[in-house]
Amino acid sequence: MGPELDDPVRTLDLELRDITVRFGGLVALSDVTLGVSPRQVHGVIGPNGAGKTTVFNVACGFVTPDEGDVVRSGRRLSKVRPHDLAGLGMARTLQGLGLFDRVTVLENVMTGADRHARAGFLSALLALPRSGADERDLRERAMATLDSLGIAQVADYYPASLPYPVRKRVALARALVAEPELLLLDEPASGLSSDEMDELGDLITSLTDRMSVLLVEHHMDLVMRVCDEITVLDFGKVIARGTPDEVRSDPAVLDAYLGEDV
Ligand SMILES: Nc1ncnc2c1ncn2[C@@H]1O[C@H](COP(=O)(O)OP(=O)(O)OP(=O)(O)O)[C@@H](O)[C@H]1O
Ligand SMILES: [Mg+2]
Repeated sequence: MGPELDDPVRTLDLELRDITVRFGGLVALSDVTLGVSPRQVHGVIGPNGAGKTTVFNVACGFVTPDEGDVVRSGRRLSKVRPHDLAGLGMARTLQGLGLFDRVTVLENVMTGADRHARAGFLSALLALPRSGADERDLRERAMATLDSLGIAQVADYYPASLPYPVRKRVALARALVAEPELLLLDEPASGLSSDEMDELGDLITSLTDRMSVLLVEHHMDLVMRVCDEITVLDFGKVIARGTPDEVRSDPAVLDAYLGEDV
């Protein structure tokens, strides 16, 4: 945590300020600024290679920007490591699911609840509470989270034995069990059928009674349906920002997606 910054009119849950990221000679992000408002869904879209995943990685600390600041609730984050996220009230799901294959679904979800857990499997498991009461409490919370996502019945299964869309829900449960204030989602709709995508949309919308969401996604219909605000990237630059309706009719966006159905 860095020093407190000047409080703007409203404090955003997350701000990226003038972020530039270079990979060797390639400028992946150039002066990207965006803000996630409390209890809103902020979408990041853009054509292939636009820099969406890089934005996600900067937001969750995988990538340290060459220039610019990441600000969480008005405080500059100097260096976020993946295992700091929960302590910052943040959780994320990855494009690859990152589930632990050798423990059950329930145990996977339980590892998400630990605010001090390190990234690795063993330390996450070791960090689980030893005392019976804590362990029971955590188990109950994990079960309740699975239940809220409609997958309580797979609690004792191993992830690898489950269909992909169910595994995606398990990954989401693991992020939600920590009760984050800010949820970061990278391509949550990939590999889902259109019905499953509708369900995911309803779910994301329902989360905003208690958290904000940064949604990096290339499925335009989902983004248009659930986002309050959208930032559009092209070649690492912000080319448009606004409500779904504003973005949909923006000439720069139509240009960037030439030939695609916005
Ligand atoms: N680790 C890396 N090393 C070098 N170049 C990278 C790295 N990560 C991303 N890039 C490049 O940075 C640019 C932005 O990539 P990024 O993955 O953020 O785009 P994206 O919008 O997520 O694309 P996609 O829609 O294909 O997922 C691309 O040109 C990509 O090739
Ligand atoms: Mg990507």
